[in-house]
Amino acid sequence: MSVVLAIETSCDETAVSVVRNGVEVLSNVVSSQIDLHAKFGGVVPEVASRAHLESLELVVNQAITDAGIAVEEIGAVAATHGPGLIGALLVGVSAAKALALAWGVPYVGVNHMEGHLFAALLQEPNLPLPAVVLLVSGGHTMIVHMKQLGSYEIVGSTIDDAAGEAFDKVARYLGLGYPGGPIIDRLAVDGDPAAISFPRAMPGELDFSFSGLKTAVVNYVRKEPSTSNEDIAASFQQAVVDVLVDKTLSAARQVGAASACLGGGVAANSALRSRFVEACNEAEISYLVPEREFCTDNAAMIASAAQWRLDNDGSTPLDAGANPSLKLV
Ligand code: KG4
Ligand code: ZN
Repeated sequence: MSVVLAIETSCDETAVSVVRNGVEVLSNVVSSQIDLHAKFGGVVPEVASRAHLESLELVVNQAITDAGIAVEEIGAVAATHGPGLIGALLVGVSAAKALALAWGVPYVGVNHMEGHLFAALLQEPNLPLPAVVLLVSGGHTMIVHMKQLGSYEIVGSTIDDAAGEAFDKVARYLGLGYPGGPIIDRLAVDGDPAAISFPRAMPGELDFSFSGLKTAVVNYVRKEPSTSNEDIAASFQQAVVDVLVDKTLSAARQVGAASACLGGGVAANSALRSRFVEACNEAEISYLVPEREFCTDNAAMIASAAQWRLDNDGSTPLDAGANPSLKLV
């Protein structure tokens, strides 16, 4: 156990965090590039890489200052090495290796999705296992059976769009801006979730499908153009949340999980958080919903996963690269 400085640059957040013993967050700095990408309606890979390059040194310095530690106290440097945008990943990986070499400490490459899993453990290191974790982000939607730390099985996943992607596409269609998740979340507060009965797609038993829902929203808006964006947002969000929560609880029952957790950017969604807690209480299963700052992309979760990997598998060789399509299992 030691102090880990972790770098996360897999997509559009330049994030650096210093975490002690895998659980004590000494600093958690996130520099968002949202404004740079918003005018394009989505993340532009080349713009993302350049922005990471420009801000990374500043963000690293800020994270060390906020942590109030001397550089000599840092025992390892970690970086997300996949999945993500290759140019963006390489900025973080290269910087982490250079710092590890300069400081004479180990380098640890971390899987971004394992990082999202560790957000729950950051807050509850004694999380009852086995657990099921609903991982919902811009690029992924899966139910992970966490048998024990480091031992995962994907028991359900999307057959088309990720949940975050569905939020982003619906928001873009409605002309609401990017990223769509937080905007729809805010609008839905003033809408009626029962106003429109959008389809709840049930492909495989624990699998998801969101592309039909997106098409249903588009068709509905064409047919009923006077419907308020608030009602559309609330009804669409409810359709997503219903299937996410139902299937996570089914998975928990099937694998005999001792707890259920949320992770990933979409886990910041207010309706998902409250419905999930309600359903876990009804099912009498213990649950953990990480703070919003640990759901959306951040480097504290990467540092936490890095500590576990370092303690269990050792460091990552400096000649290891980055893998844009790295799998969790
Ligand atoms: O995990 P994340 O920060 O980045 C990836 O690894 O993809 O997830 C980003 C996704 C985006 O699609 C964004 O729209 C969605 O998470 N998101 C939300 C909310 N906040 C972020 N979706 C619904 N409600 C939110 N409050
Ligand atoms: Zn993510």
